[in-house]
Amino acid sequence: MSKLKRIGVLTSGGDAPGMNAAIRAVVKSALAKGLIVYGIEQGFKGLIENKVRKLGYKDVNNIIQTGGTILGSARCEEFREKNGRIKAQHTLLIHQIEGLVVIGGDGSFAGANLLNEEFGTLIIGVPATIDNDISGTDYTIGYDTCLNTVVSAVDKIRDTASSHRRVFFIEVMGRSSGCIALHSAIASGAESVLIPESVTDISLLAKEITSQNKGLRSSIIIVAEGDDAGGAKEIVSKIAPLLPDFELRYSILGHIQRGGSPSAFDRILATKMGVEAVTLLTQEKSGLIITHQSGLISNQSIKNSKTSVVHIDETGINLLNSLLTHLD
Ligand code: F6P
Repeated sequence: MSKLKRIGVLTSGGDAPGMNAAIRAVVKSALAKGLIVYGIEQGFKGLIENKVRKLGYKDVNNIIQTGGTILGSARCEEFREKNGRIKAQHTLLIHQIEGLVVIGGDGSFAGANLLNEEFGTLIIGVPATIDNDISGTDYTIGYDTCLNTVVSAVDKIRDTASSHRRVFFIEVMGRSSGCIALHSAIASGAESVLIPESVTDISLLAKEITSQNKGLRSSIIIVAEGDDAGGAKEIVSKIAPLLPDFELRYSILGHIQRGGSPSAFDRILATKMGVEAVTLLTQEKSGLIITHQSGLISNQSIKNSKTSVVHIDETGINLLNSLLTHLD
């Protein structure tokens, strides 16, 4: 029998489709175990400012299918300072919150880990970011939905690119991870992909586009926003002088990638992870994040959850390249 009586839940960092499904799973499973659950608004900012409310079953009804987060989210500079964390800990003491579920990405986990180390607060992280860049988990909540949004947008751009025989550079999110770019490129049949994990050679890319096209067809190049050669707009301005015979266009997909109703995959992942987070807290475990590895829900130290390039394996890049060699 767990001694834990009160837990808190917050969403932090960039929002991701499926965060609501995770909140729902945390609240419902905690209530079922007889716990009192507090929702913290706007992530760590709300924890510092004591924006805390009790959550019941009614608060999480009909949210599994909704995008965004009912609790709101924020990137909080103040929480990076010790003083900010002291205020946050004070809020936890006021409400007698003994354990916290942090739904977010690596930045959120780094902050949560400090709270754990400095004050002994029980912390369990649930990875949710469209970037899918947390090491140790095959998937983060929101990535699958984002990928489908991107692929559907690229399919539409492909229609107009083909009609006009244009070369399109489509920028997708991913400041330091090319995961969305690489996998949307594979799924949309793009001709090339530029990602932060590899060096972009503009003159080589121009040669590839020339040989692929021979002036007769369209090309789609997916660009991760964090590519070393710049975003799609910058790359077009750099490559344009090398491709005088082509009509070039760029399109930046932007924040549509973060919104929308979560896919079935993300809802299931969020539900499994949310339930597991509560189970670990009731066992008074702490300093862990939930992971999904080879289909199994598990956990690992929050300290190992840094942004990583593990999801960009050579297989994906080789797959794309092998398809390119068969273009006619
Ligand atoms: O949450 C991850 C992410 O969507 C990145 O892919 C992107 O670079 C960043 O957030 C954008 O953040 P913001 O909405 O704060 O500009």
